[in-house]
Amino acid sequence: MTMSDKNELSQRFEIKGGDFSKAGKTSTIIKEILQEIGIDSSIIVRTSIASYEAEMNVVMYAQRGVLTLNITPQKLYLKLEDEGPGIVNIDLAMQEGFSTATDEMREMGFGAGMGLPNIKKNADKFKLSSTPGQGTTLDIIICLDKTGKK
Ligand SMILES: Nc1ncnc2c1ncn2[C@@H]1O[C@H](COP(=O)(O)OP(=O)(O)OP(=O)(O)O)[C@@H](O)[C@H]1O
Ligand SMILES: [Mg+2]
Repeated sequence: MTMSDKNELSQRFEIKGGDFSKAGKTSTIIKEILQEIGIDSSIIVRTSIASYEAEMNVVMYAQRGVLTLNITPQKLYLKLEDEGPGIVNIDLAMQEGFSTATDEMREMGFGAGMGLPNIKKNADKFKLSSTPGQGTTLDIIICLDKTGKK
């Protein structure tokens, strides 16, 4: 963790695709960081949902990914960049209930097709972009100051 003199915290996490044994670990660490620095509990809940769903999508669909957490006094920023198949139809992927999860994933309780819609609901700013065949980038911003708060 680096806390610069600009009052900014930044940390980078690597996520391994297909590794369900470590799945959710990054989100747990992020939650602990937020608790430690005294972030409001409603913000912690929203961030935990968003980071968990985003992390799981990398585990389920990509080869590998990097999650970058950045916190300033004004906003909490999660950026996920992965190397993987990408998403051909973003509008379809955003629909509640749409999922390409395998039977194996569904047996583990995933694949409701609710991850991306839930991330969007919990974010103040949400941007999903992808290059099919290369990978996917997801930007999530949650406001920490009173203005623009959900
Ligand atoms: N990082 C990603 N790379 C490639 N495809 C993705 C990625 N994230 C999501 N998708 C695609 O978008 C679909 C919808 O994702 P979403 O998270 O909403 O649902 P899900 O992962 O299928 O199910 P749930 O999140 O409810 O367990 C996925 O089934 C997958 O096809
Ligand atoms: Mg998902």
